[in-house]
Amino acid sequence: MIMNSQLESRKTSITSIASGKGGVGKTFITANLAACLVKGGKRVLVVDCDLGLANMDILLGITPTLTLQDIVFGNQDVRDVIIASKAGFDLVPASSGVKEMGQLLYEKIQLIKTTLSTIIPDYDEVLLDTGAGISEVVLQFSIFAPKNVIVLNREPTSLTDAYAVIKVMHQRFGTDSFGIIVNSVKDEKEADRLFSHIDTVSKEFLGLPLYYLGHVVNNEAVPRSIMKQKVLAQDEPNSIVGKNCYNIAKAITTWK
Ligand SMILES: Nc1ncnc2c1ncn2[C@@H]1O[C@H](COP(=O)(O)OP(=O)(O)OP(=O)(O)O)[C@@H](O)[C@H]1O
Ligand SMILES: [Mg+2]
Repeated sequence: MIMNSQLESRKTSITSIASGKGGVGKTFITANLAACLVKGGKRVLVVDCDLGLANMDILLGITPTLTLQDIVFGNQDVRDVIIASKAGFDLVPASSGVKEMGQLLYEKIQLIKTTLSTIIPDYDEVLLDTGAGISEVVLQFSIFAPKNVIVLNREPTSLTDAYAVIKVMHQRFGTDSFGIIVNSVKDEKEADRLFSHIDTVSKEFLGLPLYYLGHVVNNEAVPRSIMKQKVLAQDEPNSIVGKNCYNIAKAITTWK
């Protein structure tokens, strides 16, 4: 009995980060949450699931020699593809500018998932940074993760696109648990207002309440950290954005 509960508590948590609209901060948030989770003592793996336009490696200042492409088309062992980041988490990088990777067939996506399943038990937290939109690749990675996070910002188009992702996943796969991160806001009040808006729409049209995970303020430290290829939450944990990210990481670990 004790052994069972110990095994249960060690189970890996898998979270996908999606958005609908592109450029809302998924990759920045994924990297920073991963660093916060590492700080909290977790073993963390990030998988770059933006297969056609991967850029997590760039954000981290890493130059991978092998990527998911080598697993899909080169039979490479996933353990040889994993690369350690300076922020303390591992990364499975993807390739960029390879059209075939952005339009992978169902079987190839399944191959990636099966391969990832062999390493997932080595980690406490696995974060999947997906591409924008509702392509088959994005949806297939999202349903791989029991926890689905949607990032949006103050732009009305990001709100409608976030709702579109929720609707498609709910209606097609029966997904009924979505966590919302509101990015690039002035303050918590604005984030609350934006969350309340999408939550109301989701409840009204899908009968589905959403889960608020937190917000990140719009701050010039974000693009500055990206230019420096540094992870802000690791570099400046006491900055406002650093604290925002720590709060979200905490919310993710307590979210069932
Ligand atoms: N909180 C923030 N404050 C200021 N700028 C931000 C913030 N979050 C993101 N940005 C800016 O938005 C840009 C896009 O961020 P990011 O690449 O993480 O988005 P994305 O959702 O992953 O994009 P894509 O859909 O192309 O994958 C960054 O280069 C950064 O400069
Ligand atoms: Mg991205």
